[in-house]
This record gives sequence, structure tokens and C-alpha cells, in this order.
Amino acid sequence: MSPTPKEPRIVIQGGQPLKGSIYVGGSKNATLALMAGAVLASQGQTQLIRAPRISDIANMAIILRGVGIRVAFSDDQQNIHIDATNLISFEPDDQLVTKMRGSLQLLGPILARMRKVRLAPPGGCNIGARAYDLHIKGLIALGATIDENQGYIFAEAPAGGLHGAQVYLDKPSVGATMNILMAASLARGTTIIENAAQEPDVEDLGNLIVAMGGKVTGHGTGLITVEGVTELHGVNYQVSPDRIEGGTLAMAAAITRGDLFLEGANASHMRPILMKLAEMGIVVEEAPNGVRIKHPGKQLKATDVTAMPHPGFPTDLQQPIVALLSLAEGTAMVTDTVYEGRFRYLAELLKMGAKARWEGRTAVITGVDGLSGADVEASDLRAGAAMVLAGLAAQGTTRVFSVHHIDRGYERLTQKLAAVGASIWREDELGNKVEVV
Ligand code: UD1
Repeated sequence: MSPTPKEPRIVIQGGQPLKGSIYVGGSKNATLALMAGAVLASQGQTQLIRAPRISDIANMAIILRGVGIRVAFSDDQQNIHIDATNLISFEPDDQLVTKMRGSLQLLGPILARMRKVRLAPPGGCNIGARAYDLHIKGLIALGATIDENQGYIFAEAPAGGLHGAQVYLDKPSVGATMNILMAASLARGTTIIENAAQEPDVEDLGNLIVAMGGKVTGHGTGLITVEGVTELHGVNYQVSPDRIEGGTLAMAAAITRGDLFLEGANASHMRPILMKLAEMGIVVEEAPNGVRIKHPGKQLKATDVTAMPHPGFPTDLQQPIVALLSLAEGTAMVTDTVYEGRFRYLAELLKMGAKARWEGRTAVITGVDGLSGADVEASDLRAGAAMVLAGLAAQGTTRVFSVHHIDRGYERLTQKLAAVGASIWREDELGNKVEVV
């Protein structure tokens, strides 16, 4: 699709090395899951501390308000107060649900609290099939009956409520693990989730449920055990730093031959990312309060990347690392085992002079000496990040369109990058510079 000029955009004059300290915000995916987890509390209020200011979170807040939950943001928008005591509806708003995949996380908690739930087909980035059969399989194992009609999901608990069960996931789906974990936390008896997702976001959700009075062990590993309790209560909970934002900013430092301190980044969550960057020759220094990423001053080396479930290299950074590999020395084979449709953005990168071929789940990237600025499309959230990275390194001007995708998951990206030396700003559809607050 060719970019439409009459659209808001991010404009970048490439070639400035990024230097200084940049703050890594709270995790988008963890916050969405924690907001769903907060629905489980029938007593008290939950406060999520250090939540990112992004549109997916704002939309989730509107969905929750629509089912009777009170959601308020602190003045700086960094803390979210959620009072779910007055949950009155089992039918989240269709239009908003179809906009974001994260809304699928409401299946488990609303079912557990209301004994039924009806959800429109959940949306999100267009990067592959994104099935939800494992969510359904898990809820059926807990005793729910499911009716699916034209993409709508209607789930109902049996008369005695949900019960514990042994659930084996054919794939370690992040969302399915979370939904089963949330539903099981208020079910009768013990649930065991085998081949569970091990992502830090699942660990965050398990920690929240434990703090709320739930009984969960093994979250963050492939085997999670949940003892159901009758009631959960609200708590204050600090969201983990966003390893995907952290990884993107690390790559921004590397691609601009810069030197950035990622303040607040959690190195252990970012291990698979940091190891790959080190393989390319990038200097990675861990500190107690963050991670320093420094270009070595010589050409970066190509390295193969296989995106897979945690603790493998995250699929959400497959697109950004390809931008970086497009300027490395040599050829890299990049395989995405998680999504089958996550290479469409490469057509945009080619417009900037990158050399890549792809088929199915694999792409071959051959490094070039330089990229040149162009008008490109952010075809989805992480593709948008890849375009911004390429633009930061390219000669000349890059304009990235469809910025609403980027706003779903990156908090004030242009301001943050400008503060460490990037020549980057936003323009409205008429080309006027705009401040984003
Ligand atoms: C979450 C993240 C997303 C990330 C992904 C993988 C959120 C809001 N999104 O998405 O950013 O890219 O984890 O790390 O947290 N699958 C099935 N059946 C199912 C469920 C999933 O086949 O029932 C497949 C999907 O089609 C996909 C793969 O499994 O190919 C991974 O999906 P999953 O781990 O569930 O990702 P999400 O929770 O949707």
C-alpha cells in the first residue's frame, strides 16, 4: 500500500547518533494483562504503578468502564486506579474489542466473576492467523460451555462455577496462558497449566494474582499451578519495564552509532535481546538500574535470528532487528516461528535501500552500506518501530505514515528520541509540526 500524504506522520532527518539517558516505561503487554487481572478483584481498588501512556491502554480503560468498572489515571497518566467491585456487564463493547487483541484477555476474568462472558472477535495487528483455540480449550477444561457464532465468543460457567483442571497447551500461547490463569484463580480446586508461556508478562500477571490473595506457583516457567480461591482483593502493583520498548531503544542506539543508557531496563527480561546485540558486536553493559548500549565504532556483524516464545528472541523485536541487520556486514537469516505473516513490512524497508528476500516465515537480509530516507508505511505496531529505526540511520528525510499503529505501543516515542539527539518530530495531515502530550 502506498502512503497517503494527507495523514499525520513522524518525520526523521537521519544520521544523528543518539547519546545520553533514556527512560524505559512500563510494559504494554503486561499492563493490558494486569488491567484484565484487576477485574478479578471483587473487593478494593487496584493501582497499577508505572503504566505506559499509550492508546491500547486508553482503549482498554474505556472497555472496562463500559462493563461498570471504575478506571482513573493519575495526573501524569503513569498510575491506573481500577475498582472492579461494581462489575455489572458480561458484554464488553463490540467496537473497541474488535480494535485490540489484548481485549481477548477479558474472557477469563469476566467469566470467573460473572459466570458468563460475550466477546466480539478481537482485533490487533494484522500479522497472521492469531487464533484463540487454546483459550477456548482451556476454558472448556475448566467446565465452561462455549458458543461461537460469526467470530463472537459466548462462554458460560456450569451451575457450580468453574473447576480446576489439567490443561496442556499445544503451543505456549501468552494470551491463552493468561486467560486460563485468571479463570482458574477463582475456580474450585487445582489447575495445572502445562507448556505454559514463560514471558515476563505472564510472570507479572501471576505476581499480581498472588498479591491479590490468589494461590499461583510456577508462573514464569512452563508449568503453572493455580489453587482457586473464592475471592480476590485489589492491591498496588508496579508494572515491569517494557522489554520490547527497551529492545527498540537499544537498537536505536546501535543503528545510529550512538551510546544510550536505558534507564530502568530489566536486563534479565531482555537477556535474549542483549545476547543477540552483543553477537553483532554491540557493547552491552548491565548496571543495577539499567543497561548501557554502545556502538563499538566499527561495522556491526550480521547474525541469524530466530523469533520464538520466551526465553527465545521475541517476535515483537523481529522487525526492529531486521532494520538493524539491514546495515550490518554480511547476510542474516531471520525466521519468525511465532507468526506466519510478519514480513510484509520488508517491502517498505526496500524503499529505503535495504536488501532482503523473504518467503513464508523466513527472510534473508543482506547488509548495505547505507539507507536513504523515503515515505514509508507503519503497516503494524512493530513494523512502525522498524521504520523509525531505519529512518534514524538513513541519509535524508524519512516520513513514517500510519502512526496510530506506533501510538498503540510506544509512549511518546518522538519526544524520547528527540531528547537524546534525534532529529525527529510529528506533523499533522497538513504538514504542521505538532506537540504530542
Ligand atoms: C501476545 C502479545 C504480542 C506478542 C505475542 C507473542 C499482547 C497483547 N500481545 O499476543 O505482542 O507478539 O504475545 O509473544 O500481550 N495461537 C494459537 N492458538 C491460540 C492462541 C495463539 O494458535 O489459542 C498462535 C497465534 O496464532 C500465534 C501464536 O500462537 O501465531 C502466539 O500467540 P500468543 O502467544 O497467544 O500471542 P498473543 O497473546 O496474541
